[in-house]
Amino acid sequence: MSDGPLIIAIDGPAASGKGTLARRLAAHYGLRHLDTGLTYRAVAAALLEAGSDITDEAAAKAAAAALDLYALDREHLSAHGIGEAASKIAMLPVLRRQLVEKQRVFAADPPGAVLDGRDIGTIVCPDAVAKLYVTASPEVRARRRTAEMRERGTAIDETAVLADLRRRDERDASRAESPLKPAADAHLLDTSEMTIEAAFRAAVDIVDRAVLARERVHPEPDVPV
Ligand code: C5P
Repeated sequence: MSDGPLIIAIDGPAASGKGTLARRLAAHYGLRHLDTGLTYRAVAAALLEAGSDITDEAAAKAAAAALDLYALDREHLSAHGIGEAASKIAMLPVLRRQLVEKQRVFAADPPGAVLDGRDIGTIVCPDAVAKLYVTASPEVRARRRTAEMRERGTAIDETAVLADLRRRDERDASRAESPLKPAADAHLLDTSEMTIEAAFRAAVDIVDRAVLARERVHPEPDVPV
């Protein structure tokens, strides 16, 4: 591979399908995967479990410093209350800086990684080889999230899920620190009308083209025979 780790940045709002896409891309290219939402969730969970105030920046920073990015428990951290708290603590600038630093170290480790979140292409890995901004209409996202929760046995009302997603989108897009927005050089992928398979094929196409473009800029050195 030419010129450094292969980093793929995937951003987008909650329930856009970016997590599924990120996992599949990581498997396809043989890269590690980090769902950066889990890092915010893990800090929120640590504060909630310690009974700390979730706006306590020093406590959040300490929890972030102690975090092992290779040992995040998705099952435990996917609880709704933890997601709500995560979306609130994600506004704390000191905490963001601490987590972003750790996420960058994770990404830079060869052969590279797929990171998904809200600010990967803009802040965490602005030099990523390929950037995707995955989105879908709020209604489609609410339908998918509701089906997913019902499959896990949680009784849930789709209208409530939609209201919740809209509230979280608003919070993520309007915060001063690293708001949710596509990087200027991100490829937009609207999955509203797409199956997961079609979205995956479109994403692979984008990444393959980005990798080829990088190889043209930094060709492999000739190996003497
Ligand atoms: O994606 P997920 O719902 O797990 O993320 C939880 C919260 O963490 C989001 O609502 C968002 O506010 C925050 N987050 C963030 N930056 C990221 C990933 C997640 O601010 N890169």
